[in-house]
Amino acid sequence: VDALVADARGSGVGDAPARTREEPWPNDPYPAGSGVAQRYATLRRLLAGELDADAVVTALKDSGLRGMGGAGFPTGQKWDLVRGTQPGSVKYVICNADESEPGTFKDRQILATQPHLVLEGLLLGMAVVGAQEGWVFIRHEYGPEEHVLRAEIDALRAAGIVGPDACGSGRRLDVDVFVSPGGYILGEETALLECMEGHRGEPRNKPPFPGNYGLHGRPTLMNSVETFADVPVIVERGAQWWVDQGAGESVGWKFFAVSGHVERPDVYCVPMGTTVRTLIELAGGVSGGREVGAVQPGGASSNFIGPDRLDLALDFGTAAEAGTMLGSGALVVLAAGTDLLAASTNVLRFFRDESCGKCVPCRVGSTKAHALLEGRSTVDDDERAQILRLEEAMRKTSICGLGQVALGPVVSVLGLDKGGAAARDQPKPGGEPGQPDR
Ligand code: NAI
Ligand code: SF4
Repeated sequence: VDALVADARGSGVGDAPARTREEPWPNDPYPAGSGVAQRYATLRRLLAGELDADAVVTALKDSGLRGMGGAGFPTGQKWDLVRGTQPGSVKYVICNADESEPGTFKDRQILATQPHLVLEGLLLGMAVVGAQEGWVFIRHEYGPEEHVLRAEIDALRAAGIVGPDACGSGRRLDVDVFVSPGGYILGEETALLECMEGHRGEPRNKPPFPGNYGLHGRPTLMNSVETFADVPVIVERGAQWWVDQGAGESVGWKFFAVSGHVERPDVYCVPMGTTVRTLIELAGGVSGGREVGAVQPGGASSNFIGPDRLDLALDFGTAAEAGTMLGSGALVVLAAGTDLLAASTNVLRFFRDESCGKCVPCRVGSTKAHALLEGRSTVDDDERAQILRLEEAMRKTSICGLGQVALGPVVSVLGLDKGGAAARDQPKPGGEPGQPDR
């Protein structure tokens, strides 16, 4: 496993030095260099009856841990919901490792360096909700990380930690890896389920949510890589420990992928609530000593913010209040002088290309908006109004997040172009604020 981990580390982004096993991330409760015999201690305690499943759920609720894939749904509430739904039914637990948001590569590093935490979190989820089968649904380009995971699972099977009699508990816990056939939309949780069932990978209407009606119609607990990786330390050290790690009012640790015009693009693990400015400084500042032009704090789906917002504390709530979102924890920095409209149109092109085409507003709206903006460095008032109307239609009528947010970055840039005002301050047709109301 260690050789594979070293190999996967080498597949990281940029020229940043690889993080070593001797320097574990702060969300790892196990000493550096531990093997499967020392790790998985929380799972062993749970399966041995020394730890109560309710206590795990309570710890997650008290910790304030929220879904790190982007949407920030309270993790303890999700586990509780799946645990309480249809007792005795077949259930599944899935780790969504189909990380594909442009600028987002933190899960890749977590998979490469902490496969044990991802798998322990997933196995704890299985034991808590009463599932026998767990899956890691992994992006098809993440070959080295897939090998790391498979090697770790083999080691778990050899040690009897998973299998028909997991940890000698008499309970069956089996985990396997499902490689995505490819396509950004498959990371949307219900498209992922359709794909795993052998159907065309298109999102379902929600509700019902996967917690009630998931894989093969069964209650399914789905969390992202980072969310599962945070569970063991919270259960091991307690909710209060996790709460204390955050900056200010924020709780816990947060992995960020920092990229764009910075000197050291890389993955940084910092207290939740760290400011945009601090993250840019950690990444060596803006490349070439330039000033910040704009920042996308939460991946391609998030609205751009201007250089006047660098002291924004990055947390789910504060980011939303500032008219953007924490999203997938991908801070994309653009230097002053960058053509922001061209950059946001490029993001729109990505969404247009990746739209699955199931609903008309997303399929047609993204195409129309892109055709209007392509190659443009400015728009007139009529075109601006047209973009705002398309954004509103897509936001209100698309069935999944892709269509709902596709035009948000462009609208935010049009707001920035108008003298530094945030997009949420822009008048909408009918007088509504322009920020997606998710
Ligand atoms: P969502 O808000 O619909 O759902 C979030 C989670 O909470 C889901 O697991 C959902 O099943 C659950 N949930 C929500 N309401 C519930 C309820 N009433 N009962 C039970 N469960 C409930 O958001 P979605 O569409 O799953 O994710 C959108 C986010 O994903 C975006 O904010 C974006 O940042 C992020 N994203 C991340 C990517 C990545 O590569 N990490 C790629 C694309 C988007
Ligand atoms: Fe597909 Fe777009 Fe509709 Fe989502 S919003 S289901 S990506 S067409």
